Amino acid sequence: MHDAKYIVPGLVAFLVLITLPLWYNAAMGRSAVGPTLQYPEGESQCVLPKDEMKGEHMQILDDWRDEAVRDGERYYVHPDGTTREKSLTNTCLGCHGDRAQFCIKCHDYAGVKPYCWDCHIEPERD
Ligand code: HEC
Ligand code: HEC
Ligand code: HEC
Repeated sequence: MHDAKYIVPGLVAFLVLITLPLWYNAAMGRSAVGPTLQYPEGESQCVLPKDEMKGEHMQILDDWRDEAVRDGERYYVHPDGTTREKSLTNTCLGCHGDRAQFCIKCHDYAGVKPYCWDCHIEPERD
């Protein structure tokens, strides 16, 4: 039992160490969950539920491109029968119009740089 005097400080040091990223983020004024994104006003639903979009939007875009350009299938049909154009500019950016406050903000945070904007344009805002 003599070791208690080592165990307690050891535990404290361990706790501080494993929570260090949280302290660091708090000190830097960031949250540990990611950047603050701007969501489209007046819309509550994306193409798929949010969690799925987070992980699968790259694949969806890839599929949309192939289907629209190669197969000429330009409309995505939701389970409820409504349709959406398979379009990066018209559909995704139609809702997420402020790319800087959404796509780019998250990509910068994650360190990804999609090259899509070399060709695809951002819709005009009024
Ligand atoms: C070299 C230029 C270029 C680059 C880079 C590019 N695209 Fe495209 N993309 C095109 C062209 C041209 C079309 C055909 C336009 C059409 O037929 O409507 C197209 C069509 C598409 C379409 C279907 C039609 C539409 O209106 O969106 C999707 C989706 C798409 N691209 C996604 C992407 C994604 C995602 C990236 C980045 C990973 C990307 N593209 C990068 C040139 C490009
Ligand atoms: C009809 C409007 C609308 C369209 C079209 C749309 N989105 Fe969304 N998107 C939303 C909304 C609203 C949310 C937030 C959903 C929520 O809170 O449940 C969202 C969420 C997301 C997320 C998750 C963000 C996060 O915090 O995890 C990603 C990624 C995303 N959208 C990308 C896209 C891409 C890529 C497209 C085109 C393939 C697209 N969206 C088309 C409205 C839209
Ligand atoms: C919640 C964070 C988040 C948001 C919001 C988001 N993305 Fe992404 N995106 C990512 C991450 C993370 C990756 C890299 C995933 C990987 O490499 O597996 C990625 C990858 C991509 C890729 C593939 C790039 C490549 O080089 O492979 C495309 C295309 C893309 N995103 C388009 C968009 C578009 C368009 C929007 C806005 C409508 C958007 N993303 C919004 C997190 C996000």
